[in-house]
Amino acid sequence: MSVITCIEDLRRLAVKRVPRMFYDYADSGSWTETTYRANESDFQPIKLRQRVAVNMEGRSLATTMAGQQVKMPVALAPTGLTGMQHADGEILAARAAEKFGVPFTLSTMSICSIEDIAEHTTAPFWFQVYMLRDRDFIRRLIERAQAAKCSALMLTLDLQILGQRHKDLKNGLSAPPKPTLANLINLATKPRWCMGMLGTPRRTFRNIVGHAKGVADMSSLSSWTAEQFDPALSWADVEWVKKLWGGKLILKGIMDAEDARLAADSGADALVVSNHGGRQLDGAPSSIHALPGIVDAVGERIEVWMDGGIRSGQDVLKAVALGARGTLIGRPFLYGLGAMGEAGVSKCLELIHRELDITMAFCGHTDIRKVGRDILIPGSYPSA
Ligand code: FNR
Repeated sequence: MSVITCIEDLRRLAVKRVPRMFYDYADSGSWTETTYRANESDFQPIKLRQRVAVNMEGRSLATTMAGQQVKMPVALAPTGLTGMQHADGEILAARAAEKFGVPFTLSTMSICSIEDIAEHTTAPFWFQVYMLRDRDFIRRLIERAQAAKCSALMLTLDLQILGQRHKDLKNGLSAPPKPTLANLINLATKPRWCMGMLGTPRRTFRNIVGHAKGVADMSSLSSWTAEQFDPALSWADVEWVKKLWGGKLILKGIMDAEDARLAADSGADALVVSNHGGRQLDGAPSSIHALPGIVDAVGERIEVWMDGGIRSGQDVLKAVALGARGTLIGRPFLYGLGAMGEAGVSKCLELIHRELDITMAFCGHTDIRKVGRDILIPGSYPSA
């Protein structure tokens, strides 16, 4: 591929370079993938008002997310197994985010550890935590995030139980992955990926292996993970985490105005309107569809962010217009990582920044913090 001009170009390159099992893990949703597809497609009917003869000089996309300065209202979402899209994937993505000036969020389910990221970056990053049954392990994870000077903790609430993704089951995706004949044949067609893995230190779920009780190696990880997600998670646990952490807290996975009110009551700093990128409840509305109702319910009391389906700067602008103070991107940066490593994540951020900047200008604005619903054509966007 010669010139990369959009996120779709990065995706096409990633398909070629990343082993099928791991590419599919990123590019899939649960069951019929209806919610996964709607996350993207529901941005399309939203129409922007084009303005002319407005001074477009001196534009700024800078704002804050949970008090942190960001070059644009975009952060890298927590994604599990990022280090399988590319060797040292989490480190490379964190470096690209740091250089660009947006936050990187490390997932509990990452290949590299909190300490690995701290060692290879200088800017503070965010850490995402799942509420697992082993509360002592959570407590120690939070202490490790504090020791690494993470500047915010993101607590994901929408994974009390696991959604089912057909592709992962068919590909035999597990920890460790099953070496089926089909997987081995596919691996042989990805020499660049294999060389990358061979050329870096072997890292394996380093937040967990060697830290969680009974998980000394990869073979014990699979059964541990399967039984650790806590179906009994409650708002009392959110309070427990908030007290333990004591810093900026972001609640992720809110899709309902009633839950949003409880999230605001909890005293968290931000909530993310998110359906986990369509990977959990298939049949849930798209995030962009759920956003206005949640903004109207709690937007005055807590920062409302959103993720799911953002594939361009236009999408970011539409989310901001509908009241999102910030956005997260998952697959776009994973495609960049799989396609070209750190340079691909940088490319992804540059593309989105440029698209956002130009689109905002076309809409007659120079300051992202002043963008509101009035830049949208009435009737074209979802309402509360
Ligand atoms: C995720 N997501 C996720 N969320 C989370 O809180 N912890 C995690 O470990 C993961 N893991 C994960 C892996 C992969 C491969 C994907 C694609 C997603 C959800 C993620 O944070 C975010 O909500 C979505 O990715 C947003 O949708 P888009 O941008 O991918 O469309």
